[in-house]
Amino acid sequence: MFPPWTTPEAAAEILKNGGVVAIPTETVYGLAGNAYDPKALAKIFEAKKRPHFDPLIVHISAIEELSNVALEVPEVAKKLAKAYWPGPMTLVLPKKDCIPDLATSGLPTVAVRFPNHPIAQKIIRLAGVPLAAPSANLFQHVSPTTAQHVAEQLGNVIDGIVDGGSCGVGVESTIISFPEDKPVILRPGGITPEMVEAVAGSVTIHESKSNPKGPMLAPGMIDRHYRPQVPLYYGAVPKNAKIPSETVRIAFGSQESVIPPTVNLSASGDLKEAAANLYAFMRQMDKPGVELILVDPIPNEGLGVACNDRLKRAAVRQLPESF
Ligand code: TXA
Ligand code: MG
Repeated sequence: MFPPWTTPEAAAEILKNGGVVAIPTETVYGLAGNAYDPKALAKIFEAKKRPHFDPLIVHISAIEELSNVALEVPEVAKKLAKAYWPGPMTLVLPKKDCIPDLATSGLPTVAVRFPNHPIAQKIIRLAGVPLAAPSANLFQHVSPTTAQHVAEQLGNVIDGIVDGGSCGVGVESTIISFPEDKPVILRPGGITPEMVEAVAGSVTIHESKSNPKGPMLAPGMIDRHYRPQVPLYYGAVPKNAKIPSETVRIAFGSQESVIPPTVNLSASGDLKEAAANLYAFMRQMDKPGVELILVDPIPNEGLGVACNDRLKRAAVRQLPESF
């Protein structure tokens, strides 16, 4: 059957038998496989065309299951888990031997998340094992926030898709690691820096570009990511910029710009609504015939931090000189 729509119960059976299934979470859809099974992990990498140096997130369905995959948990990580799990937050912790090197790209740490989506939780519970699940898109593409997005890109190469409707949060989880037991945000996401700070005291945000010669803390945080086919320019448009006739604009709030809004992430300027709409609008605007996608600046606070991080990676640095 194409696309391979399936139920949570059937999905759990497929997963127990080493298959890979796209499942809904509150952030984005994930492509899940048994985290203990290297063959299932290999299928995930293959389906996504993802390089093996980019490790996966392991999903659990109860805080107690953390001890099945992580060797030790710093106090501050425990506090964060208590405050924000289940939810859009991933903790990077020393891994147990039962987690194959393929899942962590050879790193001594494992990224763990307890998602806050009833269907995801049900599938993990029924499968009876932690599930490795990267976002269910082709490598470097925009993450899927509906089952239809998954079907369009991966429908013919995976064993099932469970439709759980649109993802409520819309951007991926916040990834936090704990070098010397101090929290560092490796990827901004659904839990805002302010929320992390409220529990952890202080937090550093890792700038993946700031130290190009230093070690890459999060191997997947590459510079060019989430990039549409059509050039996307993010931010205020310079006065003398050449704008082609087939330009669309993803607006935010009621800002003035060179052309009227084509769609609006949130007319009322609500960052939560903007995050939930971001990827779907990026996909919708990325179509043949469109020459340029303009995106309005978004305030760099709350969920805006995660939106800005993604848009920075999706964008061309400067407007092309001619079209
Ligand atoms: O919201 C989410 O996190 C979604 C849903 C499906 O849970 N998943 C997701 O996975 O966004 P993915 O694979 O697209 O992004 C995972 C990121 C990658 O950038 C990877 O490099 C990083 O997590 N990561 C995984 N394991 C890591 C580790 N041990 N240390 C540092 N970064 C790690
Ligand atoms: Mg991804």
